[in-house]
This record gives sequence, structure tokens and C-alpha cells, in this order.
Amino acid sequence: MHASKKPEYRAVFQPGNRSVFVLAGTPVFEAAARGGLVLNNPCGGNGTCGKCRVRVVEGNCPPSRSCRDKLSDSEIDHGIRLACQARIEDDCLIEVPEETLFDSSARILVAAEDQQLTIQPCVRKQYVEMPLPAAGDNLDDCTRLERALDQSLKTPLSVLRRMPELLRQNRFKGTAVLYGHRLLDFETDDTSETAYGIAFDLGSTTIVGTLLNLRTGREEAIAAAMNPQISVGGDLVSRILSINDRPEALEEMRLSVSAELNNLIDSLMEQSGVERRNVYELALAGNSAMQQIFCGVSPAALGEIPFSAAFQKGVICRASECGLRTHPEAPLYVFPQIGGFIGGDTVAGVMAALMHTGRRKQILIDIGTNGEIVLAVNGRLLAASTAAGPAFEGARIVQGMRAAPGAIEKVTVNEEDIEYNVIGDTSARGLCGTGLIDGAAELLRLGLIDSTGRLLKPCEAPDSVPAKIRERLIEHADEHVDFRITDKDDTGNGSEVHLYQQDIRELQLATAAIRAGTRMLLKQAEAKIEEIDEIMLAGAFGNFIRRRNARRIGLLPQVDTRKINFIGNAASMGAKIVLLSSELRQLAEKTAARTEHIELSSDPEFQNEFAEAMIFPEEELRT
Ligand code: FES
Repeated sequence: MHASKKPEYRAVFQPGNRSVFVLAGTPVFEAAARGGLVLNNPCGGNGTCGKCRVRVVEGNCPPSRSCRDKLSDSEIDHGIRLACQARIEDDCLIEVPEETLFDSSARILVAAEDQQLTIQPCVRKQYVEMPLPAAGDNLDDCTRLERALDQSLKTPLSVLRRMPELLRQNRFKGTAVLYGHRLLDFETDDTSETAYGIAFDLGSTTIVGTLLNLRTGREEAIAAAMNPQISVGGDLVSRILSINDRPEALEEMRLSVSAELNNLIDSLMEQSGVERRNVYELALAGNSAMQQIFCGVSPAALGEIPFSAAFQKGVICRASECGLRTHPEAPLYVFPQIGGFIGGDTVAGVMAALMHTGRRKQILIDIGTNGEIVLAVNGRLLAASTAAGPAFEGARIVQGMRAAPGAIEKVTVNEEDIEYNVIGDTSARGLCGTGLIDGAAELLRLGLIDSTGRLLKPCEAPDSVPAKIRERLIEHADEHVDFRITDKDDTGNGSEVHLYQQDIRELQLATAAIRAGTRMLLKQAEAKIEEIDEIMLAGAFGNFIRRRNARRIGLLPQVDTRKINFIGNAASMGAKIVLLSSELRQLAEKTAARTEHIELSSDPEFQNEFAEAMIFPEEELRT
């Protein structure tokens, strides 16, 4: 028997020429997320807000009834569709307009407007014309410039050495590049319109760099790479342990990351045509271990109880001190940290999600090997980190793998059998995190996994389960059971991909960590899940999760899916925001300082919550 495999289509998204393979019938919104584009979805994909418009340039993507309700005939004729409603039924080329993109400079501006802020980076340029030295006016060069700027200056030696020549080259006219009172440079023309900065999201798996125009807030280029520290270990603990074993590993890891950041800087310069001497400021957000290793500060204390970070306030240094090749005096801002493993990326996410404003009751969940959870309620901000383990990245899953070509990323059930989707135009090789969640959620719905997580034997399967699905339950001689997702012929390599009992146990452990962590924060704040206005999923994995399925297995709380939103790469967005607004940077510092770090691992109540959270929810909400 063959697993039912729907036809797959290739969807190419502009901008960025991002191409993905998806099952027939996949909503455009989901396909875009798979391609790394997060779209606006204020109504939670309900088809009512009209904010997720895209244009289908080529291919068949039929308009749904909601598309017809919300869009004019002429828009429909021009290929406009609601991404949350239209489904891919052909190879397609789809254009995503700037205003539909969630993670865009437009969004940053909106965030800034929300707080009545204009773009006001810490770096400022000012064109000045100074009186020429003359008889009776033999002021020193620095004081002459200070008077023209009407402020005192701290001038680094590298600038001071060039100052006499620079001032005289253009007859005491030019542009001062300022960072507060620090003179970063003096340029001999009016260059006040030219100022760039780079925001880095330093993840344990991937690094993303974005070049921003500091005048307009516009994103000029974006580049990403794998974190080279992966060769030391996928998870943070193994990297910390390797530094504990061999102290010189800290410097090796620091150098490898800074070399990769330089590669990204090279790529950003090449893509945009911007010159590196015009990059005057950088911001970097990562978890505590990543930030400390980048700064060359040992993360050893993070590896042992009570998991102490080395710093809480943001660090400002020269990018060149860290080996980065931009303007030699460019300052680099490393985000403030909350405590323990909850680092700058979480602070950046809180800022991006506007949680610091306290206007809404929100929960932010960043699911990774470490799950970070932040709760904003009743004027308080509480954060916790839980060791969710590597199950969502495919580790410790028998046939687990990362979300790469060959990974089953989606499992659904029809009236007769299961359907699945494989990443890339290739055969199934294994199961990635989203496939694991989908598979478990569907089997729970069918009653083939009970609430304790046990896979039922074929003879125990409810009568309502279609015969073809029942036949996929494989009972072994020792009575353990697993579920066959593919058939030999589908995989192309003669093996099958199964969901094993032990995979479900790993999933329960990972899910329980996040679920218990969320409950603990709500308890601490004396709040109830029903009061929460919005749950935001951050991080690369969060963008791909199917909300109903994540809720079915208890990874996400039992709330209406319309309250659950994807917010894309929140760490990257937060880093961009603080680069554009000095005011928001100050708020980031205050936010980190006032966020209550709830230490879970040593709390006996957490152990109880964790044990309870190992049980899958009995029922499922309809909405
Ligand atoms: S119509 Fe609101 S998200 Fe699509």
C-alpha cells in the first residue's frame, strides 16, 4: 500500500526569489512562511481584515469566497488574493507587497509610530561650516569644531590624527559623524544623507544580518548564514561544556563567529553597493551564551546552578574591537540580558512585539532547544527559560532531522488515509519538528494516541478510524507499537519513515517544558489564560508551526487560534528597532532591568506542573 501523497507545486515568492515546494491546497500564507516570509495576519487568518494581500503573477491560485467578498472584481482579475484564504493549486509566482510583509522596515516604522517616535538613531550627522583661522583667531581645531556644532566632543585618537588635514582639505567645511559626544569621523563634504547601520540576530543555529539606512529606516540588504559554532555542538550546553573543558575554545568560537559576521557584512556591502566606512553603528541580539561568547566573556557560569549571566546591562564597544570590518570607530551595541539563559534576543523580541508598552496582555513564546516564554500582564513582565530539548529540531527522534530537503514537514488526514508533505522535490528521509507535531496531533484526534501518549495497538483502534490508517499501526513482538507514515516506494531508498512510541515520549517532554513554563508564569502573575489577548510565536520554528496542531498536543495553550500569531524573526526585528531609535534603546535597557526572571529548574512546583503537562489535552477547541 502507498501513502497518499498529494501533488506538489513550486511556489516562488518575490521579493527574494524564495522558492518552496508545497502540497496542493496549501494556503499561500503557509507557503510564504515556509519560504521565510511572514505576512501580516491581524485577523488571525480569518479572511476578514484584508491585510494579507498578495498578487499571483503566474499560476493558478483560485480566489476563495472570502477573497471575492473582500476584493473587487478588478483586483481579482489582476491576481490579487488574500494569502490566508487562497490555496496553491499550481506552480505559482507570487508577489508580496511591502505593506503585507510583517517583518519589514514598514513594520518598524509602524512600531515606532505607535509609540509616537520618529526614526532617531544614536548616530547623527551634521554638516557644518566653520570660520577660517585668521589673525586673532587661532583656536585649536577641536574647539573650532565644538563651537560650530555647539557641543563638547570626545575625539578618538584615530580621528584626531587626521583632523588638521581633514578640516583644511575643504576649507573648514564638512560633516561631523556623532555618537552622543563622541566624534566618530569628520567627512569633507556634505554627507549627511549617507548613514547606515547593521542589525545582527546571532542565533545558536543561524545568524541574520540586516543593513539599514539610518536616515529612512529602509532595509537595504539582508544576509544569513549558519552559526559556525554548530561544529562544536548544536545546543548551547555542549558549547559551554567545551569551553569548560578547554578554555582556549572560547577564543576559537569568538573568532569563528566574528569571521562569519564579516562574511555577512561583505555580502551586505556587495548586495547594496554601500561602502563599509559608511556603516556607523551595529546592534547585536542573541541569547546570553551567544552574546557572551561573541564578546569573549566566558559563559561557564551559565552552565552551572544558579546559571548566572555575566552582564545585564547592554554592552557598547567598538565593532572593530570585536574584529568587525565596518567604520573603524563604529559603536556596536550588544543587547541587555534578563538573566540566566534569557538574553538579548528575548529583550529584542519583547521590544518588537511591543510588550514593554503593557497595552495588551500578551505571551511571547520562542520555541527552540531552549524555550523562552515572556508574559506581559497587569503592568508586569515575567520571563522564563525551559529546556525543551532538541526534539523540535529532530534530535532524539528515531528518524528525526532538521527541516531540510527530505524531511516530512506536514501530516494531514483525509477520509481514507494520511497525506504528508516532504520539503524539496525529493523522497522522504525523516521527520522534522512540524511533521512530528502534526503527526502526533492527527493521531490524537483519531484516538490512536491516548492522553498518556501511548500509541494504541491495531486491535484497540476506534471503529471510526479508516482501514488504511489502521493498517499503518505496526505492532511488534514485544507489544510496542509504531505508526508508519510512508511506504517503502515513497522514500525511494527502500526504507520507511515511522513515528515511534519513543518519539512521542520525546515530544511530550519538549511540549511539557513549554506548557509548564507558561503555566508557571501565569501563576506567578496571578493571571488566567482566558484573559490573554494574544500569544505570539517567535523564531524560525515558530513560523512553521500549525497552530491548531500545536494547541492539540498542548504545546500552545487552549485559546482561540485567532489569538495566536506569528511574529517572524522577533530578535532581528528588535535589533533593527534599537538601531533606528535611541529612545527605544533606552527602553530596551529599562525593559531588561524590570523583567522578572522566573527561575524554573529549582522550583518544586515546576516539577509538579511539568508532570501534569506530560498528559496531552483531552479535548480540543473548535476555533
Ligand atoms: S484576511 Fe486577515 S489575515 Fe488574511
